[in-house]
Amino acid sequence: MHCKHFLLLLSCLVGISASNEVVAQSGENTYKQVCVSCHGTGVLNAPKFGDKAKWAPLIAEGQVTLTAHAYFGVRGMPPKGGNPNLSIEGFSDALVYMVNNSGGNWKSPDAKTIAAINKEVEARKAGLNKK
Ligand code: HEC
Repeated sequence: MHCKHFLLLLSCLVGISASNEVVAQSGENTYKQVCVSCHGTGVLNAPKFGDKAKWAPLIAEGQVTLTAHAYFGVRGMPPKGGNPNLSIEGFSDALVYMVNNSGGNWKSPDAKTIAAINKEVEARKAGLNKK
């Protein structure tokens, strides 16, 4: 990252010292950049940000299953939230941000959980029916 300006330099330094907060921050940023356009208002019946009743049964599917199915794409939900460059980690953190503001309490997935999510995505790719 280039730190051309003083403020950018400051945020670079802060980024180094508070990497956990940066992860939470990046989930929020991704949500705002990619997911909010549909999930903010509930476009096409997307489960709305903060709607605990809608999110409860989804959260109950578990982090691995729900993250993988949403990342792969399900019904009106486009693969990767419609952003082909979005990594599974970036997608997961955006979902954690949404879940934690909609009645859940998930953590940013560790390497083991990411591996399990990837495996489930591969299973979907391998030709299992779209839900
Ligand atoms: C173009 C609109 C759109 C965008 C952008 C979008 N979603 Fe969705 N999403 C939907 C819709 C519509 C559904 C409901 C699908 C259904 O049940 O038919 C949905 C459903 C979901 C579900 C529930 C999946 C399930 O198994 O029922 C999750 C989780 C989800 N989205 C996460 C995300 C995340 C995270 C992002 C951003 C990275 C995102 N979405 C961006 C439209 C969108």
